[in-house]
Amino acid sequence: MIRLVSSNNNSSERANVDGAVPPPSPAFLDRLNQAAARVQATLDNLLPVAMGEEARLYDAIRYASLSPGKRLRPFLVLESANLFHVSEDRALRVAAVVEMVHCYSLIHDDLPAMDNSPLRRGQPTVHVAFDEATAILAGDGLLTYAFQLLADEETHGDGNVRAELVRDLAIAAGPHGMVGGQMLDILGEGQPRDATQITRMQRLKTGMIMAFACQAGAVLGKASDSARQALSAYAQNLGLAFQLTDDLLDVEGREVDMGKKTDQDRKAAKATLVSIMGLERARQQANVLAEQAISNLSYFDSGADNLKDLARHIVTRRS
Ligand code: IPE
Ligand code: IPE
Ligand code: MG
Ligand code: MG
Ligand code: MG
Repeated sequence: MIRLVSSNNNSSERANVDGAVPPPSPAFLDRLNQAAARVQATLDNLLPVAMGEEARLYDAIRYASLSPGKRLRPFLVLESANLFHVSEDRALRVAAVVEMVHCYSLIHDDLPAMDNSPLRRGQPTVHVAFDEATAILAGDGLLTYAFQLLADEETHGDGNVRAELVRDLAIAAGPHGMVGGQMLDILGEGQPRDATQITRMQRLKTGMIMAFACQAGAVLGKASDSARQALSAYAQNLGLAFQLTDDLLDVEGREVDMGKKTDQDRKAAKATLVSIMGLERARQQANVLAEQAISNLSYFDSGADNLKDLARHIVTRRS
């Protein structure tokens, strides 16, 4: 199932009212949708088909991964790879791997012991559609399978490149990255947290996998240190802008657009920047972060225009 993003008059109105970030061009949204379709086909090819006694596990893995996500992390891989003239087939494989790790993180994030969410991407979450044990195992399976794919020779002929990708993804997804951030998120429920603590939590739980996605193209393309630094600065700001907008949309968004329940953060007493700054300042902060992300790309020529538009899209999106 593919989820198409359409240009949206409301977002351009809001951007004008804020005097802030303009929404991306319709051509950008077409490119994002086309990339999502190619990622979908790649996931469909790479994921095992449901067979044998353990078919239920594969069904759950495919249910979670082929549901209509925005595919923003794969887009980051494809666009960063494009900057360094990496072949699209090679980039698509790594893009799908990153999406598998993301889908695992969503399955586990939604579990009753975590955010206890019944709806994801417009459909019942995996533990609701299947059961809790299957959801845990589907997440475990996606995570480990992603590394199996990444380590395979088909990812890149140079073993050093493969080893770098495997190590960097492990750092981004593991206790020094997403999993560590998820722990901070859970520990922060109902607790006083300041902006520095919340920003660190956001960086870990969301920023690091996005930063990996940005760097993956540079690793595949053996890019220079200075190009990697520019992408890293962009990714830091983009990741924070992304999670901040997710938190804003939890308050301001509509379930029908988001494909997930809203008002979840208040109900769980999550420590978010929205909860300590209020909506208006949080929105301004997201816009500042997007502008900073865009300026971090000045190192590149017009080849980075789609990454700039992605920063605009991330803070003006409705879903
Ligand atoms: C949701 O990510 C989880 C967060 C890190 C906030 P997305 O908003 O990218 O979710 P999908 O992949 O489009 O469903
Ligand atoms: C999730 O953040 C971050 C992950 C690492 C999955 P949220 O808990 O805010 O994501 P949603 O709102 O459920 O998508
Ligand atoms: Mg969560
Ligand atoms: Mg959640
Ligand atoms: Mg959220």
